[in-house]
Amino acid sequence: MAGRVDGKVALISGGGRGQGAAHARLLAEEGAAVVFGDILDKPGEALAAELTGEGLQARYVHLDVTRLADWEAAAALCESEFGGLDIVVNNAGIVGSTAAVAEETDAGWEQLIAVNQTGVLYGMRVAIEPMRRRGGGSIINTSSIWGLAGTEEYIGYQATKGAVRLMTKSAALTYAPDKIRVNSILPGLVMTPMLDDEPEESIAELARTTPLGRGAEPREISYAVLYLASDEAAFVTGTDLVVDGGFLAR
Ligand SMILES: NC(=O)c1ccc[n+]([C@@H]2O[C@H](COP(=O)([O-])OP(=O)(O)OC[C@H]3O[C@@H](n4cnc5c(N)ncnc54)[C@H](O)[C@@H]3O)[C@@H](O)[C@H]2O)c1
Repeated sequence: MAGRVDGKVALISGGGRGQGAAHARLLAEEGAAVVFGDILDKPGEALAAELTGEGLQARYVHLDVTRLADWEAAAALCESEFGGLDIVVNNAGIVGSTAAVAEETDAGWEQLIAVNQTGVLYGMRVAIEPMRRRGGGSIINTSSIWGLAGTEEYIGYQATKGAVRLMTKSAALTYAPDKIRVNSILPGLVMTPMLDDEPEESIAELARTTPLGRGAEPREISYAVLYLASDEAAFVTGTDLVVDGGFLAR
């Protein structure tokens, strides 16, 4: 059976664990050649070995999303190893400083902007020329329910996830003539290692207030990424795809 992204080449950030690892696996299972990067090299290399051991096409690269040179090298690898670049998934992100406006420090703020926002800018920037060479492409940026709805504190996280949604729309409009589609996904609660440092009560409360009554498994978010990456979404650009168990429906 044909895969849903057969013949395409994907670059994924933050693929060492959590949702990024699930996206790498699903896109590879559905026929893409996948290059994925992270700053956690050990789990990233282990996943690449696992996927290639299953006969799938995957490469791990060290990719700190705050470093443009890392992005350039990763995009160049997609073209030299696999012949092009069709899909970029800007997935890497941090919770970082959870402070409110009055307590936020310059360091906490700047770290969040660097990873969650500038990282996405760089990921889109390196994709444009290679995608033009392919005659189009699909960029998927990871926002959050907290890029649309407000919550107390977490001022830096809110700022970056809101920014990602509108950076997505700006890029979608700019590059529509090049047939480069740019969309955001807005996950609700997803059960990944990101939650390890969050208070248990807040996670439980978020699961309880999610109409479906639980957090998502990472692969449940990957199916949204797969759809946007595939030609099934050929008429979808500039949108926010909410995958949140009904949280934002209230
Ligand atoms: N887990 C949730 O509930 C949830 C909800 C909405 C949105 N998100 C977003 O989903 C994305 C994936 O998060 P996750 O839940 O899989 O968390 P995670 O912490 O399990 O995975 C994030 C990955 O990003 C990597 N990363 C961090 N800084 C990096 C950098 N500078 N360069 C490259 N990689 C870096 C981490 O090493 C990690 O592998 C993030 O953008 C996050 O903000 C998560």
